[in-house]
Amino acid sequence: MIIAVASDHGGFALKNIIKEHLTERGYKVVDLGTDSQESVDYPVYGKACAEEVAGGRADLGMVFCGTGIGISIAANKVKGIRCGLCTSVEMAELTKKHNNANMLALGGRTTDPELAIKITDAWLDTEFEGGRHKRRTDMLDEM
Ligand code: RB5
Repeated sequence: MIIAVASDHGGFALKNIIKEHLTERGYKVVDLGTDSQESVDYPVYGKACAEEVAGGRADLGMVFCGTGIGISIAANKVKGIRCGLCTSVEMAELTKKHNNANMLALGGRTTDPELAIKITDAWLDTEFEGGRHKRRTDMLDEM
């Protein structure tokens, strides 16, 4: 399974921590940047990661900025992307169970690394429930 990751400068440090964790878990990780703490524009990186997932070159995507907000907004503008910004394990489970989120956004300045790893694992290890939720995710995918 391939997971694409991308961040701006605000999410760069957390992205590196999560990348290492994903690699340890056996995932192939494709990093679309940024490559330093130098200030960059999060829409560029959110779009790049989302297009990697929407285009089928990655199975899932993870994006990081200071809060996770801006880069999740960018990702969700790409058709077929359901990017959930999560700040708790419960949200991570629900964004897979109910939204079948194919991308996860995390805030590098708002979520500490230990919690970020737990959120990532919960999102990866939870299954989509389908049923009535499938009707709703189909509606999202039509937008
Ligand atoms: C960058 O300073 C910051 O605005 C960005 O990382 C993010 O938090 C935006 O939503």
